[in-house]
Amino acid sequence: MSENREILALAERLAREAGAIQKQRYATPLEIRTKSSATDLVTEVDRACEELIVAGLTAARPDDAVLAEEGGGRDRADAPWRWVVDPLDGTTNYAHAYPRFCVSIGVEHEGVRTVGVVYDPLLDELFSAVRGEGARMNGRLLSSSDVSELGNALVATGFAYDVRRNPKDNLNHFIAFLRRSGAVRRDGSAALDLCYVAAGRLDGFWELRLHAWDVAAGLLIVEEAGGRTSDLNGNPPPGSGEECLASNGHIHDAMLEILRS
Ligand code: IPD
Ligand code: CA
Ligand code: CA
Repeated sequence: MSENREILALAERLAREAGAIQKQRYATPLEIRTKSSATDLVTEVDRACEELIVAGLTAARPDDAVLAEEGGGRDRADAPWRWVVDPLDGTTNYAHAYPRFCVSIGVEHEGVRTVGVVYDPLLDELFSAVRGEGARMNGRLLSSSDVSELGNALVATGFAYDVRRNPKDNLNHFIAFLRRSGAVRRDGSAALDLCYVAAGRLDGFWELRLHAWDVAAGLLIVEEAGGRTSDLNGNPPPGSGEECLASNGHIHDAMLEILRS
């Protein structure tokens, strides 16, 4: 088995195991705390999922770097492989028993996004991609949509946790897309939003001030499904998640025109 394939298999196993915890604890009483703001939540399930994934990586790949959202990883500059982990993307949804959340695991080789896995445990949908080998959902090849007019497109976005105090709040863009696209959704899991662009369920997605763990898997999955990704100027999307635009490719320029204004 190639190293990429071994890494994919490990990422899938750990995503499924963390997803099983999420499914088991879904809609049960949770210990919920706040992080950067009153609306930025973390639950005991976020932590339990991260501990499981980091422990699995430590056992199987002790020399790899791990960047994990809740701080349990061991990032190191000299490692060729780096795992970027969002143990539970969609924590606000999870805390409210709103059924839209996932595990996201992206893996970079020498700084290049190489493997991505996103698992939705309630729908049992596992999205995955290996660079150069296409994107899949439960084994079936994915292809982004062929909608070519923004006016017919279903697009999605999200808002950063500092939306109450940061003037770069994405609201003007949100209003512009409400007026010019077919419809807009805000569903609370950036990793799943990206996978839905890959699957052709959404035609486009944009967000500001995401983090590396939100986009590490999803950007590769969109690209491997034939979609296009960029920052808000049409340049390659930053791995930091600071600016993120993903689309089926056909409506990308129309989305950029709105986002640049
Ligand atoms: C959040 C979700 C949400 C997005 C936020 C993210 P979290 O991640 O992806 O959709 O709008 O910007 O921070 O905190 O649930 O892992
Ligand atoms: Ca996240
Ligand atoms: Ca998270």
